Amino acid sequence: MNNLLQGLNIYLIGMMGSGKSTIGHLLASALDYRFFDTDILIEKVAETSINEIFKNKGEAYFRDLETSVLEQISGYTRSVIATGGGIVIKPKNWSYLRYGLTIWLDVPVEVLTARLAQDDSRPLLKEADLNLKLTTLLQERINFYQQADLIIKIEAEQTPAEITKHILQKIPSILKSNDQN
Ligand code: S3P
Repeated sequence: MNNLLQGLNIYLIGMMGSGKSTIGHLLASALDYRFFDTDILIEKVAETSINEIFKNKGEAYFRDLETSVLEQISGYTRSVIATGGGIVIKPKNWSYLRYGLTIWLDVPVEVLTARLAQDDSRPLLKEADLNLKLTTLLQERINFYQQADLIIKIEAEQTPAEITKHILQKIPSILKSNDQN
């Protein structure tokens, strides 16, 4: 698999709560890759939480930080990168994402809603109707998520280990189809 990948980065994209960080860690160790999480790097650069960045500087400022972190990570090879759910909306971000393999973790909104019900770390989810907010965000983003090289449909009952195994099984097929382009 490592020969096949030739150091290509893997970007996990998808909605908040889709498991990008959990799966990303597992994928990275299976591939002997580094693991990065854009949200964690943004918090390090800004020296504060994402909630605080949104509150004090606004979403546009956060999105600029996100792009600059992504730009820096894209200079590395042999890395799995868990991205923030909104990274796909900015065309400039695709100029970095497209050089790696993008994998969309496609999780049903009901599952996301259940997972995020107690979460208070996501500034975009402060509204009363969590299910409606997630549905609206997914509608706005689905066309972008669908641009991923690989779409992994996730069922509620699948474990992170099973999902990771499934991704590892699928990767060779997309590398082959990329070769033919
Ligand atoms: C966001 C997702 C979050 C974080 C920020 C905005 C979004 O990351 O980047 O709160 O716009 O969907 P996760 O997808 O890792 O939760």
